[in-house]
Amino acid sequence: MGTMVRAWSLFPAAVALWAAGMTTPTYQGEELVRPERWRDWKFVGANYGMGYTEGSPETAKATFHNIYIQPEAYEQYRKTGKFPDRTMLVMEVVRPGTNASINKRGMFQDQFVGIEVALKDEKRFPEKWAYFNFIGKDGAPLVRAKPFPKKSCWECHNKHGASDNVFVQFYPGLRDHRPD
Ligand code: HEC
Repeated sequence: MGTMVRAWSLFPAAVALWAAGMTTPTYQGEELVRPERWRDWKFVGANYGMGYTEGSPETAKATFHNIYIQPEAYEQYRKTGKFPDRTMLVMEVVRPGTNASINKRGMFQDQFVGIEVALKDEKRFPEKWAYFNFIGKDGAPLVRAKPFPKKSCWECHNKHGASDNVFVQFYPGLRDHRPD
């Protein structure tokens, strides 16, 4: 019993998050199991048609991105300006629609494509963050996904994300709620 109490006290932050019921990542071997019900999480921002390479905008391929984070990780970030261990950000990819129902102008979010996930797991990943794509080649949703090599995703996120690899500069829900 005594040992157990001591062991817990080594991980006060982890215990606090666990006690708060934060959704934590589930792995199967090397793969991350796709999180569920992220729409119940905290919504922090939406972007449309963003591209990271120069050139003419490919409007035909433009999609919406909706960003969600576990509410407990959000609260920690608001208080401390830091993303706790086991933070997950889900980015939904949604195709735009227009001219449906009474709509004559502008874009609404139409077909759901799938999700990508950014995950901070300090013990598991040497670079702390890892990146996953749950959109299968044929568009079918994947149930599990492998982390990408560092070069594919991490490097750009690390270099250009405004706060700890995360692109908070594009998410009003995080950008405008950092501690002073
Ligand atoms: C050249 C830069 C670049 C690369 C490479 C890149 N991203 Fe991103 N990523 C961004 C930008 C910019 C955003 C924020 C705006 C948006 O796309 O809506 C973003 C946002 C994200 C988010 C939302 C959470 C966050 O961290 O801000 C996820 C999840 C994500 N990317 C996954 C991936 C995955 C998976 C890969 C690799 C297959 C990848 N990204 C590669 C630039 C990049």
